[in-house]
Amino acid sequence: MNSSAVDSMVLRDVHTLSNAAYIDMQHLDLDIAVDMAKKQIAGSAVWRIHNKTKAMELVLDTYDLTIDSVVVDGKTVVFRLDPRIQFLGSALHIPIGPATKLVKVIYKTGEEARALQWLSPEQTHDKGQPFFYTQSESIYARSWIPCADGPGIRFTYNARVTVPTGLMALMSAENQTERSDSGVYHFKMNTPIPAYLMALAVGDITFKSIDERTGVYAEPGMIDKARWEFENVGKMVNNAEQLYGHYRWGRYDVIVLPPGFPIGGMENPRLTFCTPTIIAGDRSLVSLIAHELAHSWSGNLVTNATWDDFWLNEGFTNYFERRIMEQMMGYSYSDMLWELGYQDLVAEVKSLGANSKDTWLKLDLKGRDPDDGLTDISYEKGAHFLKLIEVNAGRDRFDKFLKRYFSDHAFKTITTEAFLTYLDTGLVKDDTVLRKKLNINEWVYGPGIPANCPRAGQERFAKVDDARDQFLNDVPPAELATSNWTTHEWMHFLRGMPPALSANQVKSLDMAFKFTNAGNSEIADSWFIMSVRANYTFAYPVMESFLSTVGRRKFLEPLYGEMMKTPRCVEMGKSLYERFRKNYHPLAQESLDKLIYSK
Ligand code: BES
Ligand code: ZN
Repeated sequence: MNSSAVDSMVLRDVHTLSNAAYIDMQHLDLDIAVDMAKKQIAGSAVWRIHNKTKAMELVLDTYDLTIDSVVVDGKTVVFRLDPRIQFLGSALHIPIGPATKLVKVIYKTGEEARALQWLSPEQTHDKGQPFFYTQSESIYARSWIPCADGPGIRFTYNARVTVPTGLMALMSAENQTERSDSGVYHFKMNTPIPAYLMALAVGDITFKSIDERTGVYAEPGMIDKARWEFENVGKMVNNAEQLYGHYRWGRYDVIVLPPGFPIGGMENPRLTFCTPTIIAGDRSLVSLIAHELAHSWSGNLVTNATWDDFWLNEGFTNYFERRIMEQMMGYSYSDMLWELGYQDLVAEVKSLGANSKDTWLKLDLKGRDPDDGLTDISYEKGAHFLKLIEVNAGRDRFDKFLKRYFSDHAFKTITTEAFLTYLDTGLVKDDTVLRKKLNINEWVYGPGIPANCPRAGQERFAKVDDARDQFLNDVPPAELATSNWTTHEWMHFLRGMPPALSANQVKSLDMAFKFTNAGNSEIADSWFIMSVRANYTFAYPVMESFLSTVGRRKFLEPLYGEMMKTPRCVEMGKSLYERFRKNYHPLAQESLDKLIYSK
């Protein structure tokens, strides 16, 4: 065996059971049918491989898949499916020869598929047709495709997907904008991507163009609102390109999913998946699109080698997102995003514990579900670390460095260690003053928030703090100077309130500012949390309807969490959860089950 051909980065990935370190997974040909009634995907995955080490077996990741048969270079073979190892799933062992080229797996998905959410018509926006979508990051692709499921393993793909006639299918690939009469759709992704970027959505979906390379998909009843909200997405792509080099994926489209989508957004290549909770009617929450777009560089183009290096995806992306928003909206706006992010960081460190190793940038997720690493540390400590470098090295110098970083590592994976070396040789070099100011080790391999953490300007939030102080000193809400506030100012206003407001104080805020019926998901979520604390029952019916439809974990966890912390609300929390659990994605169910049933 030629050991130099072994991919040492893939070898380090503790969350794949595959042996893709020894075998190149060059290309996938997927041929699947989506059965909306049975809630099942069935079909075949053909892997074109290069057996560079002449391995005797191919091992793939699976999770709750039924394997019907396996064909190797045209011959049916005897395979072995191991028992499931917790979240990692079952390794599928396939005997191959030194020259094997094609491995075909015929399979079906199971009821416990963690990536899949099947919605009844009532759970959609338009309520006419069922809907289906996947969420593969971080290690859930294996629950709908037998694959080598690690971020360091890239392949190109083609897919043929059959869906009930009348429905539209879309993937993280070249997409059609029109429905097919036959219900058969063909997809092509010629740029190599890791399995966590495999994505599929099926439903009553239509398309509207934004400009020549951007557009929006959504249910018909949502498309006009979505198109309006995303008016500036084409400009965002242009701004991103000015910062860090040309967009390498061809088109950039966004699909707005039904409200049960468990996360805010997912950077599926060519087609960002997003929650409808950012369609606020005033374009105030579109920084989420800037974030998913930024992943087209940080994440999709240059990818974290393992989930321990997650900050290389999310910290870079958060930094990049705020640079795009600064270009679009100016400093005072991006400063608000930075400050809210800083608050999230402080809260996260507090909740994890200031000395916890989970507050290091470099994570240690061995033996754990990568979902455990999904905290604001990667996002916010990561972004603030990059901001620190920017501030100390100077923006021009740092931007040149980042641009080079993206082009030097395009379509490759990178570890934290390799990044630090690149930073050292490409930017810091013999600048010992800079080296001293950054204190890199403390950021990457140390806990908490380092003392040199940069902090954004407080131009707009200082005014909000004033107004809040006045309110707390009994100035009537209507007299506060709030007339030109945007969503982020309101968020800061609410977040900064002391924990124990009286029901009367909460009521007076609601009378003046109509928070209960605000309609903006970010404001609503903070408001409902405050209402639970203050026993402001007037907000409960609206909160209930919010919880019945919205599946975004970022909103559900703090809100249910607040109810479980508040003795008089525990029963309400449990009974609401029991009623609405079925509307939530399997991954949201997993984390909420822990929260609710541990009480
Ligand atoms: N890639 C993430 C989503 C993700 C990460 C899903 C890890 C599963 C595992 C995506 O880019 C993201 O960060 N989404 C955020 C929004 C963003 C504005 C911070 C979200 O969904 O809240
Ligand atoms: Zn992200």
